[in-house]
Amino acid sequence: MKTLIAYGTRYGATEKAAKRLAEFIGEDAQLFNLKKDDLKSLNLDDYEAVAIGGSIYAGNIQRRVKKFCEENMGALLEKRLGLFLCCGDVERADEQLVTVFEDELVDKVDAKGYFGYEYDFKKMNFLFKLVIKMMAKVNESKSEINEENIKSFAEEFISV
Ligand SMILES: Cc1cc2nc3c(=O)[nH]c(=O)nc-3n(C[C@H](O)[C@H](O)[C@H](O)COP(=O)(O)O)c2cc1C
Repeated sequence: MKTLIAYGTRYGATEKAAKRLAEFIGEDAQLFNLKKDDLKSLNLDDYEAVAIGGSIYAGNIQRRVKKFCEENMGALLEKRLGLFLCCGDVERADEQLVTVFEDELVDKVDAKGYFGYEYDFKKMNFLFKLVIKMMAKVNESKSEINEENIKSFAEEFISV
């Protein structure tokens, strides 16, 4: 089953998770960075399955992810559909996923995934570091990408 993994990322955590997902799915998976790759080169007719993901900043997902969903809603509802998130608030991951993606997609979704998070203090600006120190009580870089969750998402997503 030809599968597109379309994602948004700011500091690379979601990209790392999306790449692991592509490895678990195998050779039929193709990665697409919604911020960097050329949307004109993308034809959703080429794919039977689409997984869409992004990360959360102050309760929102990347604008490009939202725009991609809105502009392709009709086509996405025809596919096998996966939605995933990277975010620091583990307890609220499921709630945030339901909030940031459109209701039509959440109602139709075949696999939902929480793929963990990263805080990269080398890449973050001063303000973001301050926010993370105060809100998450984390003072140094941390990587908590959740391999198990990515693997079980992949299994659920491609088992038709
Ligand atoms: C300034 C800032 C705000 C954030 N806000 C939230 C938030 O509201 N909810 C949450 O669960 N995680 C939040 N996070 C955690 C990110 O979602 C997490 O670091 C994620 O792994 C980033 O992925 P990316 O590198 O792909 O963008 C925040 C992180 C930063 C730096």
